[in-house]
Amino acid sequence: MISEKMVNAINEQINKELYSAYLYMSMQAWFADESLDGMANWMDAQAQEELFHAKKFFNFLIERGARVILKAIDCPQVDFDTPLQIFQMSLEHERFVTSSINSLMDLAIKENDHATRSFLQWFIDEQVEEEASVDSIVSMLKRVGEHGHGIMMIDRELKSRTFVPENEE
Ligand SMILES: [Fe+2]
Ligand SMILES: [Fe+2]
Repeated sequence: MISEKMVNAINEQINKELYSAYLYMSMQAWFADESLDGMANWMDAQAQEELFHAKKFFNFLIERGARVILKAIDCPQVDFDTPLQIFQMSLEHERFVTSSINSLMDLAIKENDHATRSFLQWFIDEQVEEEASVDSIVSMLKRVGEHGHGIMMIDRELKSRTFVPENEE
């Protein structure tokens, strides 16, 4: 049996994942408006990944016989300054999500909920990758600074990212 406390915490996490998608879509819209199509594409893939995370939690609750409760999604920030500021903000956001998933794991351990622990392990590993990929973009952007040419090169590189969902049984 999954506890009510665990179910509530996972429902909160579904909201956080949906908000993440919303935030990255807002960043995508800003990049598209700035004609930085590669960065817009990267954010599009990022948003799709967050929707996939939300669905993964969603399906897990249903599988455990628990009730999914969807809540209002906060309005994301609309205006941004620079690509560097956006990717730094993304990194901070991913760190926030990591700490949230760590708290879920703490709760699952405390409750001896082995099924939830096993399920959450995928997210623990995923967050390591997520932080590392955003961190590398932040480093690249810091290196090129305000250089238009460097920004364009990074933009071209980020054009190739596509979202491929893993196979779910
Ligand atoms: Fe996520
Ligand atoms: Fe993420």
